[in-house]
Amino acid sequence: MQTLKGKHIVLGISGGIAAYKSAYLLRLFIKAGAEVQVVITPNGKEFITPATLSALSGKPVVSEFFAANTGEWHSHVDLGLWSDLMVIAPATASTIGKMANGVADNMLITTYLSAKSPVMVAPAMDLDMWAHPSTQRNIRTLEQDGVEIIQPGSGELASHLTGKGRMEEPEEILRRVECFFSRRESLRGKRILVTAGPTYEDIDPVRFIGNYSSGKMGFAIAEEAAQRGALVTLVTGPVSIETSNPNIERVDVRSARQMMEAAEKAFEDCDAAILSAAVADYTPEFRHDTKLKRENTDGLELRLVKNPDIAAGLGERKGDRILVGFALETDHEHDNAIAKMRRKGLDMIVLNSLRNPLAGFNKDTNQVTVIRNDGKETEYPAKEKKEVAVDILDQLEDMMASER
Ligand code: CTP
Repeated sequence: MQTLKGKHIVLGISGGIAAYKSAYLLRLFIKAGAEVQVVITPNGKEFITPATLSALSGKPVVSEFFAANTGEWHSHVDLGLWSDLMVIAPATASTIGKMANGVADNMLITTYLSAKSPVMVAPAMDLDMWAHPSTQRNIRTLEQDGVEIIQPGSGELASHLTGKGRMEEPEEILRRVECFFSRRESLRGKRILVTAGPTYEDIDPVRFIGNYSSGKMGFAIAEEAAQRGALVTLVTGPVSIETSNPNIERVDVRSARQMMEAAEKAFEDCDAAILSAAVADYTPEFRHDTKLKRENTDGLELRLVKNPDIAAGLGERKGDRILVGFALETDHEHDNAIAKMRRKGLDMIVLNSLRNPLAGFNKDTNQVTVIRNDGKETEYPAKEKKEVAVDILDQLEDMMASER
């Protein structure tokens, strides 16, 4: 099927042994109806010839700043504007490092830096290079810059070592690209509120009561919704992660009360709200204006009062909006989650159990069961939080479609 008909893809190829698979990936893109312009690094040409790639794409391959035969200047700016999506496969450690740091010494990197379109990267390298802190730091930088990373798989590598680092298979990269184009518009025109992270409840100017929530799940949901075209208001407690998508308006708050005020404001205009924040249930009755001194007391008694329940408050006046909550449970997970969904007026609840070592706070993975008030229930295997975000938004879209 021509799933990519009329789409303009820039396929960037850098110098790794996995470049031989890029010819097959290119063939898959073309068969799916895309127009593909290949940009290859000088080292890439050592692994696969431009002749093969131009025969498959039906276009001259771009590699140097100037065409060898005519001396004509290749405009990376034009290419950057032409592309609907740039896919760099394979991306070597060196190319990833240059992308992360803006080292524009070849045509592939200049095209990347000029690209107005989203960018996907499929890394390929030996396991030790992949695991190196420098590579991981560069990958994090790319993620913060909004690049989608197609994680490498594990298996036997060209070096005959076994581990993580082999480029994802071309069929899977094609699937990710198809998903990208098909979901891109699916939430256009919708406004979504997401709450994320912990809340900090101040005791005095230097101390607070908080929790271990990293905000990763909520941020992944906000990014995914924004990528599908939604306008997202992300109300977040104190976290150390960044957002990059221009469709996300980020509102930083500290306490549960501040989170409630910001969430209530954004809720007015939104079509759906996903409440993934780990809101503190209690807050100190008084916030001391000056630092509590050690010598002034023998011990310290703090009286805590209940915080407002943001989800329940929104649930009472949700109208035709769809409200999604989370439940983090340690026992009687299923029954507790259903009771929580009903009590708070939610349409859907995402249950994660602290019993599963791959789920919970401060991890990159999560294992969830989505329970809906229409009786549908789906238990997913443990996945990267970004992929869990895809599942949650698919469920939300399904509910939005059936409400219509
Ligand atoms: N929530 C909220 N405001 C609160 C507490 C929780 O909006 N003050 C939301 C969370 O963002 C989550 C859902 O309610 O979507 C469930 O949170 P959870 O902490 O599991 O529930 P609690 O009501 O605090 O119940 P308990 O701690 O007793 O399990």
